[in-house]
Amino acid sequence: MILRDRVAIVTGAGSGIGQAGAAIMAREGAHVVAIDRSRDAGEATVAAIVAKGGSAEALAIDVTDDAALSDGIADVLRRHGRIDILHNHAGAQVAGTLEEVDVAGFDRSWSLNVRAHFMAARLVMPSMKAAGRGVIVNTSSSSGVLYDREMIAYTTTKHAVIAMTRQMAGDYAKYGVRVNALCPGWVDTPFNEPFIKQMGGRRAIEAYIREKVPLGRWASVDEIAESILFLVSDRSSYMTGQILVVDGGETVV
Ligand SMILES: NC(=O)c1ccc[n+]([C@@H]2O[C@H](COP(=O)([O-])OP(=O)(O)OC[C@H]3O[C@@H](n4cnc5c(N)ncnc54)[C@H](O)[C@@H]3O)[C@@H](O)[C@H]2O)c1
Repeated sequence: MILRDRVAIVTGAGSGIGQAGAAIMAREGAHVVAIDRSRDAGEATVAAIVAKGGSAEALAIDVTDDAALSDGIADVLRRHGRIDILHNHAGAQVAGTLEEVDVAGFDRSWSLNVRAHFMAARLVMPSMKAAGRGVIVNTSSSSGVLYDREMIAYTTTKHAVIAMTRQMAGDYAKYGVRVNALCPGWVDTPFNEPFIKQMGGRRAIEAYIREKVPLGRWASVDEIAESILFLVSDRSSYMTGQILVVDGGETVV
């Protein structure tokens, strides 16, 4: 088990990629703190981990609520003494071009996709510095390195996640803290519903993926979880400030 005795926080752990990442970390021996704004979803992730013999707890927190996030992280530190891993994963997709996008949705995207990552990292950093080690993974997207059709709120926030990752990595390497970004491509989770609607339905998205992705298919959440495990474990011990794109080749063409 390559994460034995590590304490890991995963935000957005109640579904999709975050849930699969939480599961693989627990399988490898970490104690996982599954943060999700949905109490039921977070608790379902924990129940699945515990059923397989892993260790986890759920915290029902909206990560855009600074006070709740701060209290939750302080509580984890009080009870466990340290946080070795932070996976900032919760994020949202708000569709629309410059003129179409709902301005409140644009602000919500920045608040969740960028600012909440910044706040969580800021809250765990003192304990990581004190320990002289720590790993942060920020979920960006292939849309963090690509143009994404009619998605100005999403692409701008996901590009910003990459800039923030590089900045944090440069500033905190001297304290033994590594920070990398994960850029998944198409992963079939509830997250894509706004884009599927914008595309005109399920058949349209399936055709789009067959055409646009060289591997010709969606990724499974477990395929993305393998990359998360690489980034949060010592297998990537000499890697910081980097962008791991796991997209079936979409950004190649
Ligand atoms: N699925 C994809 O194709 C894909 C591709 C690239 C990047 N991503 C990124 O992955 C992340 C989520 O994707 P997923 O596929 O795992 O999604 P998902 O919809 O399956 O799960 C998202 C989880 O985050 C939780 N959440 C949402 N807002 C929250 C908040 N404010 N506070 C706490 N929890 C919150 C939801 O309750 C849900 O359980 C996003 O950052 C997204 O940009 C997804």
